[in-house]
Amino acid sequence: MPTLTVVTRNGDTREIDATTGLSLMEALREHGVDELMALCGGCCSCATCHVYLDPAFVDVVPAKSGDEDDLLDSSSHKTELSRLSCQVPVSDALDGLTVTIAPED
Ligand code: FES
Repeated sequence: MPTLTVVTRNGDTREIDATTGLSLMEALREHGVDELMALCGGCCSCATCHVYLDPAFVDVVPAKSGDEDDLLDSSSHKTELSRLSCQVPVSDALDGLTVTIAPED
């Protein structure tokens, strides 16, 4: 069960023990990170689960699909650290990851 540090939109920081096998979005929601709307429920069609990953973990997580990248293009807050958290699986390799909730579009 990896321990993640979550930085919310107002800058608050908290640690969560994420459940392996969930998506990052599901793990965040499970721990009450409600500002992550995740309106489509993880179908990669809403971009309301936008987060920024710790640069040290960008190459640890599976690469973005074309659909995910296209959807992130619709955000005015996209950076090279952007991911849709519903598309990132939680694994033990994420232990120590800091994930920052992206601003709302
Ligand atoms: S929850 Fe909608 S794209 Fe991730």
